[in-house]
Amino acid sequence: MKKIRETLEKALLEAGNILKRAIEQPIQIQYKSPISLVTETDKNAERVIIDIIRRKFPNHSILAEESEPQGDSSSKWIIDPVDGTSNFAHRLPLACVSIAFEEAGIVKVGGVWNPFHGEWFWAERGKGASLNGKKIHVSKNKTLKESLLVTGFPYDRRKRGSYYLNFMKAFLMKTQDLRRLGSAALDLCYVACGRFDGYWEFHLQPWDQAAGALIAQEAGACLSDFSGRPMNIYGKQTLVTNGKIHSEMLAIIKKLL
Ligand code: IPD
Ligand code: CA
Ligand code: CA
Repeated sequence: MKKIRETLEKALLEAGNILKRAIEQPIQIQYKSPISLVTETDKNAERVIIDIIRRKFPNHSILAEESEPQGDSSSKWIIDPVDGTSNFAHRLPLACVSIAFEEAGIVKVGGVWNPFHGEWFWAERGKGASLNGKKIHVSKNKTLKESLLVTGFPYDRRKRGSYYLNFMKAFLMKTQDLRRLGSAALDLCYVACGRFDGYWEFHLQPWDQAAGALIAQEAGACLSDFSGRPMNIYGKQTLVTNGKIHSEMLAIIKKLL
């Protein structure tokens, strides 16, 4: 695991340096759809991450947002080179590099690095989660009415916007407040360190959540789909909370599905 850990750290750091330099320069945007962006930086950072991994583990599989999946090994790297691309494209420094290592279907290590805030979230299965080397834990708030929640909107939001807004409205009426930050990986890490009490989102991709979900789980979070079954990073429903407000959130979500 040491070599995995070191490779993951190096990839996060080098990709983070690319993001940090690039946010100061003119940003080249391409459109995957009218609301889904990709920048040169997403592609450059992903290339560098994959090169670093390939040099050490030429036979491992790679699942990365901006390239075709590679390999059929059950040792798999799951990569989001820039999570929070829309923020990054607008020079809002709420973006990160997210990398997870999965073995036989189980995420073993995850790291999320926000180079703009200097925040390094890390977890290894069974060993807890940390922020810049200090152990982190989910919040202790017991009820929705004292909770701050976060969510995000999937890329079909122009078609299904009012459906997704139903959930926002319901939670807006029951909580202290809501946020939409624009980076699923950071949303999950912020639940892990107690800044948010809960997070829900539809239709995330594995690279959005593989690392952040492990970090949240290792920090004591409860993770499920919208029926209360254990969350799957390849699934389409993500509910992650401090555990205490989980059933309250599930009850509201179930009514609106
Ligand atoms: C997106 C962000 C956003 C979430 C979207 C994701 P990207 O990832 O995580 O917060 O709401 O569903 O696709 O495109 O910035 O890597
Ligand atoms: Ca993403
Ligand atoms: Ca991305």
